[in-house]
Amino acid sequence: MYNLLKGKRGIIFGALDENSIAWKTAERVHEEGGVFVLSNAPASIRMGSIDALAKKTGALVVPADATSVADLENLVEQAMIHLGGKIDFVLHSIGMSVNVRKGNHYTQQNYDFTQKGWDVSAVSFHKVLQVLYHKDAMNEWGSIVALSYMAAQRVFPDYNDMADNKAFLESIARSFGYFFGKKSKVRVNTISQSPTATKAGHGVKGFNGFINYAEKMAPLGNASALDCANYTVTLFSDLTRKVTLQNLMHDGGFSNVGVSQEIMEMFE
Ligand SMILES: NC(=O)c1ccc[n+]([C@@H]2O[C@H](COP(=O)([O-])OP(=O)(O)OC[C@H]3O[C@@H](n4cnc5c(N)ncnc54)[C@H](O)[C@@H]3O)[C@@H](O)[C@H]2O)c1
Repeated sequence: MYNLLKGKRGIIFGALDENSIAWKTAERVHEEGGVFVLSNAPASIRMGSIDALAKKTGALVVPADATSVADLENLVEQAMIHLGGKIDFVLHSIGMSVNVRKGNHYTQQNYDFTQKGWDVSAVSFHKVLQVLYHKDAMNEWGSIVALSYMAAQRVFPDYNDMADNKAFLESIARSFGYFFGKKSKVRVNTISQSPTATKAGHGVKGFNGFINYAEKMAPLGNASALDCANYTVTLFSDLTRKVTLQNLMHDGGFSNVGVSQEIMEMFE
């Protein structure tokens, strides 16, 4: 414990159950002295166990469908009232593809599903940023993080339309981050996380094979949800004030490895 977030206030989206990256992040932020409001879609709140996390961390839960600007406006207003001031950190830990859920192949998309997927997984981040921006809800040197995956840059066949959604998300972080930096010195970044055993992760076809492959490729092994939480804490802290508009690889080195010894041995 380093008290890195003492006196800081935030909003954490996307804690569904104890495996969620947002759940681990909320626990770590709490340990580091930060206070926050938790949010998730109403259906996910009913389905998951966010109330247990709220109890544990002393957080208020404010439901919001992240595709609804009205819900987001209400959330940001409630958060500032409840926390007693402007916001210092925000985690967008939201992703969903209906094509993935329905098992539609990338070459056989239902475009209504495609649209829903990019709205939930990418445009929702723009909506969060725009609401915070126009409500002047962020403190100077605040930090906003969204979670991405390397399929935004490289082909992972089963990642389906989520690859496109993540490319869109990363672009929004850069484009909006520019204006947020200029306006109020707020930084906006994405973390490109290792495959992680969560509800969203397991939704991807072939996930178990892939997570094991990545573990053998990465010199440091896969980054866990807790590792991601720790990295996020550093990005919320005052120690990373000049890091912005970045897509930060957090994958044990996977993204820069061509092939590992362990994988080679399987083919020799
Ligand atoms: N698990 C992985 O392998 C992995 C790897 C890299 C990046 N990510 C990203 O990390 C983030 C968090 O996912 P996770 O792995 O913790 O899984 P998760 O299933 O625990 O979290 C996804 C969250 O998105 C929320 N959500 C879905 N639709 C929403 C909506 N309309 N409004 C508000 N919230 C909504 C869900 O309720 C859930 O809490 C996602 O962006 C995901 O793409 C995950």
